[in-house]
Amino acid sequence: MAQSSYLYSLPACMLSLCVLVGTTSGQLSANFYASSCPNFSSIISSAVNSAISNEARMGASLLRLHFHDCFVNGCDASVLLDDTANFTGEKTAGPNNNSLRGFDVIDTIKSQLETSCPGVVSCADIVATAARDSVVALGGPSWNLVFGRRDSTTASLSAANSNIPAPTLNLSGLITSFSNQGFTTNEMVALSGSHTIGQARCTVFRARLYNENNINSSFAASLRSNCPSSGGDNNLSPLDVASPTSFDNAYFNNLLNQNGVLHSDQQLFNGGSTDAQVRTYGSNSATFLTDFANGMVKMSNLNPLTGSSGEVRTNCRRTN
Ligand code: HEM
Ligand SMILES: *[C@@H]1O[C@H](CO)[C@@H](O)[C@H](O)[C@H]1NC(C)=O
Ligand SMILES: *[C@@H]1O[C@H](CO)[C@@H](O)[C@H](O)[C@H]1NC(C)=O
Ligand SMILES: *[C@@H]1O[C@H](CO)[C@@H](O)[C@H](O)[C@H]1NC(C)=O
Ligand SMILES: *[C@@H]1O[C@H](CO)[C@@H](O)[C@H](O)[C@H]1NC(C)=O
Ligand SMILES: *[C@@H]1O[C@H](CO)[C@@H](O)[C@H](O)[C@H]1NC(C)=O
Repeated sequence: MAQSSYLYSLPACMLSLCVLVGTTSGQLSANFYASSCPNFSSIISSAVNSAISNEARMGASLLRLHFHDCFVNGCDASVLLDDTANFTGEKTAGPNNNSLRGFDVIDTIKSQLETSCPGVVSCADIVATAARDSVVALGGPSWNLVFGRRDSTTASLSAANSNIPAPTLNLSGLITSFSNQGFTTNEMVALSGSHTIGQARCTVFRARLYNENNINSSFAASLRSNCPSSGGDNNLSPLDVASPTSFDNAYFNNLLNQNGVLHSDQQLFNGGSTDAQVRTYGSNSATFLTDFANGMVKMSNLNPLTGSSGEVRTNCRRTN
C-alpha cells in the first residue's frame, strides 16, 4: 500500500475505524488468542521469567532470536527449524551457528502451551512474546504486540546469511541492511540499543581489539585479556560492560567513550550521521526506551504469515 493511499483512507478512519488503529496489523490482532488460549501470555511470561532467573543472559538470547527470525523473510519462526537429512534450516548460517541460543526455552514454552491449548499458539508468536517479556524482565520497556503470526514450513539459509547484519559492517552497510527491511536509520540506531544486554564471542570482535584505533585504549586492554590475538574464539564479553544484564541506555554512553565492543557498534558513533542520535540516547534514557519499543513493534510485524498461509507447528523445531 502506497503512503499516499493512507491519506485517502483517513476520513473512513475518522468515522469508524480509529479504535482499531494501533491494535491491528494486517490480520494480526491484540485479542487473537482471547478465546482460544486466554492464558497464553501468562504462560509465556512465567517461563521467560524463570529462564532469566536461572540465567540473566537468556533474556538477551531470546531477544536476538526474534531479530534473527524477523529479518529472514519475516517473523515466521523459520529460525527454529532444525536441519534434517532432507531439510536445511537457518541454524548453521554464519550469524547463527554456535551463537544463537534460547531454543530450549522456546521448546519448554511450546510444550506448556500445547498442554493448555493444543495446536493454537504459533511458534512465531511465542518468539515475539518471549522477546518482549525478556526486555521487560531485564528492566526495559514493554510494548503492545498483536498476534496471529503463523509458522513457516520453509526456511532460508541463504537469506539468513545475507539479511542478518554482520559486525564487520560500516555505518552505510548497517543503514542499508535495515533499510532493506523497511527501517529508517533512526530505527536502526534505536534497535542497536539491544546490545545493552547480552554477550559476544571473541571471534566477532577480535579484529577491533588488534586492528582498530577508534577504541578506548584501556577498554581494549581489558577485552584483550579474555580475547587473545589467537585462540579463545568462544570466550565471551558483555556487549555493555557497564551494565550487562540491565536494559538501559548505557550502551550509548559506552559508544561516547569509544567503548563499543563490536566494530558495528562503534560505527554508530564514529564521526558520522548517527552521532547526534547516540548522544541523545546517552543523555535521555526515556527517548531511547520509547524509540526502542516502537522499533520492536515494527520489527515484530515484519511480513507475518496469516490466514491459511503456513501452519501452527506442534513442535517448533519441525514442520507438522
Ligand atoms: C545493528 C546491527 C547488528 C549487528 C551487526 C549485530 C551483531 C551481533 C553480534 C555479532 C553478536 C554477538 C554474537 C556472538 O558472538 O555469538 C550480537 C549479539 C546480540 N545481538 Fe546483535 N547485532 C545487530 C543488531 C541487533 C538487533 C537489532 C538486536 C535485537 C533487536 C540484537 C540483539 C542482540 C543481542 C540481545 C545479543 C546478545 C545475545 C546473547 O547474549 O545471547 N542485535 N549481535
Ligand atoms: C490461567 O492463568 C491464571 C493466572 O495467570 C491461573 O490462575 C489459572 O490457573 C490459569 N489457568 C490455566 C488453565 O492454566
Ligand atoms: C524428509 O524425510 C522424512 C523422514 O526423515 C520424511 O518423513 C519426509 O517426508 C521427508 N520430506 C521430504 C520433503 O522429502
Ligand atoms: C557450524 O559450527 C560447527 C562447529 O560447532 C562446524 O563444525 C560447522 O562447520 C559450522 N557450520 C558452518 C556452516 O559454518
Ligand atoms: C562501507 O563498506 C562498503 C562495503 O565494504 C564500502 O564499499 C564502502 O566504501 C564503505 N563506506 C565507507 C564510508 O567506508
Ligand atoms: C575510555 O573509557 C573510560 C571509561 O571506560 C573513560 O573514562 C574515558 O574517558 C574513555 N576515553 C576516551 C578517550 O573516550
